[in-house]
Amino acid sequence: MTSAFRDNLLAGKTAFVAGGTSGINLGIAKRFAELGARVAVAGRDPDKAQRAAAEISHDAIGLSGDVRDYAAIRGVMEAVVDKFGPMDIVVSGAAGNFLAPVLGMSANAFRTVVDIDLNGTFNVFRGCHDLLNRPGASLIAITAGQAINASALQAHACAAKAGINQLIRVLALEWGPEVRVNGISPGPIAGTEGMARLAPDAATRQSHFDRIAMKRWGEIEEVAESAVFLCSPAAGYITGSILDCDGGSQIGDASRGDLSKGMA
Ligand code: HXC
Ligand code: NAP
Repeated sequence: MTSAFRDNLLAGKTAFVAGGTSGINLGIAKRFAELGARVAVAGRDPDKAQRAAAEISHDAIGLSGDVRDYAAIRGVMEAVVDKFGPMDIVVSGAAGNFLAPVLGMSANAFRTVVDIDLNGTFNVFRGCHDLLNRPGASLIAITAGQAINASALQAHACAAKAGINQLIRVLALEWGPEVRVNGISPGPIAGTEGMARLAPDAATRQSHFDRIAMKRWGEIEEVAESAVFLCSPAAGYITGSILDCDGGSQIGDASRGDLSKGMA
């Protein structure tokens, strides 16, 4: 797709993407690098992190750390600052998910997803504050429509993403003068691990599709453009917001199909 942003928009900026070693977050990291940022990504698997960095740019770095472990992710971000200098952009996108009813979920299963998504976002944002270029830094958490609209088999992710939405707002209040804190809520994005897990069969895929007002899947690059917007000067007065990049999936009932040509 053609980008709305000029090529050197992020020149001189340092960006860190937690969970940036695959999927949507890797797409965001790549876009940041294309626009001139120095980029670091992290995930649990060190080899995957190295491969992601090689895909992003020749000077990107890929580090290993678990967002559930505060000291570990803090150490990762210190390493980023040692290499690139204070961070201008931090994205918290690590997530875990599987379909399970509450009665098919142990306490540890529920805790695991909350720990990765919600506690992980707390750890990344709490841990980065004194490593940021302030004033002017921009933080972005990746949330989901399940934060607002309950979804069966998703108690853990619904609870975790709802918590992320409130964490975004509280941090926007507390850090307001110096740091903008926003979220992106992607819709169903083609070719991602999240889609493979949440819509493993044709019938489930169709039910997701029916909810999309724009009647097409989203693209990773479209979420990346939203991330660039939120950390750009164009969003300079935007904080505490959640940007839905979801083709209208969460507005309401889109199952009546395309009515744009009027009723027959
Ligand atoms: C029930 C399950 C389960 C399943 C795991 N568990 N899978 N319970 N049904 N299908 C339970 C385990 O039995 C265990 O509980 C507990 O969860 C922890 O499992 P582990 O395998 O030990 O955890 P861990 O190795 O930390 O792996 C975390 C993970 C894994 C979430 C389970 O799938 C993962 O690493 N995922 C990362 C990638 C990912 O999920 N990407 C998609 C993100 S998409 P017990 O009691 O047995 O110890 C996304 C979509 C967004 O987020 C839209 C919705 C918000
Ligand atoms: P993905 O490819 O599975 O990416 C998850 C990333 O997080 C990977 O880099 C993974 O690397 C890392 N990660 C997972 N657990 C981690 C942990 N404990 N510590 C550190 N890193 C960890 O997922 P995706 O489908 O692109 O989703 C990306 C984001 O978008 C998530 O926040 C998701 O909730 C959100 N989202 C996705 C969709 C969708 O359609 N896919 C829709 C709405 C919202 P390792 O495995 O090596 O750790």
